[in-house]
Amino acid sequence: MVYFSISLVGVKDQLLFCNRIGAWHSSQGGVKSELSLLSCVVLVIALCLVCSSSSLKLGETCGSEDQCDAGLRCETCSANGNTRPRCTRIQPTSPTSKVNDLAFNRYSWLTTHNSYALAGATSATGSVIISGTNQEDSVSSQLTNGVRGLMLDMYDFQNDIWLCHSTGGQCYNFTSFQPALNVLKEIESFLEANPSEIVTIFIEDYVTSSNGLTNVFNASGLTKYLFPLSRMPNNGSDWPTVDDMVQQNQRLLVFTSKSSKQASEGIAYVWNYVVETQYGDDGMEAGNCSNRAESSAMDTKSKSLVLVNYFRTDPDVNQSCADNSAGLVNMMNTCYEASGNRWPNFIAVDFYQRSDGGGAPEAVDEANGHLTCGCDNIAYCKANATFGTCDVPPISPPPPAAAAGDGGGNQPSHSQGISPLNLLQSLALILAFTIFSASI
Ligand SMILES: *[C@@H]1O[C@H](CO)[C@@H](O)[C@H](O)[C@H]1NC(C)=O
Ligand SMILES: *[C@@H]1O[C@H](CO)[C@@H](O)[C@H](O)[C@H]1NC(C)=O
Ligand SMILES: *[C@@H]1O[C@H](CO)[C@@H](O)[C@H](O)[C@H]1NC(C)=O
Ligand SMILES: *[C@@H]1O[C@H](CO)[C@@H](O)[C@H](O)[C@H]1NC(C)=O
Ligand SMILES: *[C@@H]1O[C@H](CO)[C@@H](O)[C@H](O)[C@H]1NC(C)=O
Ligand SMILES: *[C@@H]1O[C@H](CO)[C@@H](O)[C@H](O)[C@H]1NC(C)=O
Repeated sequence: MVYFSISLVGVKDQLLFCNRIGAWHSSQGGVKSELSLLSCVVLVIALCLVCSSSSLKLGETCGSEDQCDAGLRCETCSANGNTRPRCTRIQPTSPTSKVNDLAFNRYSWLTTHNSYALAGATSATGSVIISGTNQEDSVSSQLTNGVRGLMLDMYDFQNDIWLCHSTGGQCYNFTSFQPALNVLKEIESFLEANPSEIVTIFIEDYVTSSNGLTNVFNASGLTKYLFPLSRMPNNGSDWPTVDDMVQQNQRLLVFTSKSSKQASEGIAYVWNYVVETQYGDDGMEAGNCSNRAESSAMDTKSKSLVLVNYFRTDPDVNQSCADNSAGLVNMMNTCYEASGNRWPNFIAVDFYQRSDGGGAPEAVDEANGHLTCGCDNIAYCKANATFGTCDVPPISPPPPAAAAGDGGGNQPSHSQGISPLNLLQSLALILAFTIFSASI
């Protein structure tokens, strides 16, 4: 515990503290000033070792965000009675990391519902926003974390196309977020910087202006990445492989919810290609995986992509950690059967970083294990092995919520074993305190 609280103090502040002690002791004169300065420096080095080693693994008790390993976040989940802050996942394993030459529809992609509706955002009009919010980080940050499906609501607004969470097909200042162009440019930067990544956009389309979508995509620089409508299979056959899509630089799929746009602008009408589950509360009823009204039945094999929605009608950040855990995985299994033994290609959630452990990233990893190598999780896939040859699970699952409050018994080795680094830190700390007490 001492380690945690001390390591929260910035290294810079510690060095300033040393300077001040040094200056004060110098003004007093004597050998002790040098001793205390030395002890202070040793102390800082010891503390640095402590902070550099405070990279905690999945499920370990944490005191602050930056203590967890990359791709993890320090979270509780009070909705599940889990009050012990621990490192939880916010990133899926890259779907193509084990098997990378399959058809696009043989992968599952983490998808954010209302990706643009950020908690705490104010409208670019300057207005407060009264609409619900569904995510906590920018689209750029979502992409960095491995989100590859984005759901964007687009409206005609202020002589432009805006991202808006509104009602009746009409955007208002108090339901508007920002011009779509801003976010499309973020996606363009990501595709530019990551030449082997593929992104899918689902537009909830309220745009009626002539060529509105075409113009805003063109202005964003995204047009050159578009996967052409003519290559999309509308008969249930496999999509081109991800390799092929990358080589041809056709790395952006765009779907619209307005059927007329397919003829007028060449933008794929989503339910010609995708079967999609009911959204909102009705889509979260355990054991019931039904299609939303506009979609064909889930088991319609002439649509080769499967999208599972799993989020509340009224977004609730505090419940989302529970929703994005057991309930989501159960629904994914229910939908596998309802979809004619097909795992979802897109798993869409609110607050994708929230979970009681593995969360939406874990669900995506499970789907990708089944899809790409025939194992229960992509982590168990063996490189170059035949389909269905799996490794023993290399990672233990995060400890259950019941372990909460005991300071983290039942945990992986990090906090229990004495590593050489721990030993070094302890020695340095003892040395520092010894010299420090000798010097005052
Ligand atoms: C909406 O915001 C714009 C831009 O800030 C402003 O010019 C306009 O007056 C606002 N409209 C209303 C109805 O408040
Ligand atoms: C697309 O954008 C480019 C540059 O941004 C512009 O020169 C061109 O006229 C635009 N094309 C259409 C069809 O809007
Ligand atoms: C299905 O559509 C694809 C792409 O349009 C085409 O290449 C393929 O021949 C079609 N397959 C069948 C069985 O019709
Ligand atoms: C399953 O969910 C759908 C969509 O909300 C609903 O129409 C249907 O009545 C539900 N079926 C059962 C058996 O509850
Ligand atoms: C979520 O929980 C926090 C902390 O308990 C609370 O301040 C906040 O109002 C809650 N938010 C919602 C939407 O319930
Ligand atoms: C898998 O196969 C590829 C191509 O044949 C090869 O480059 C790679 O080293 C193999 N990986 C392993 C782990 O065997």
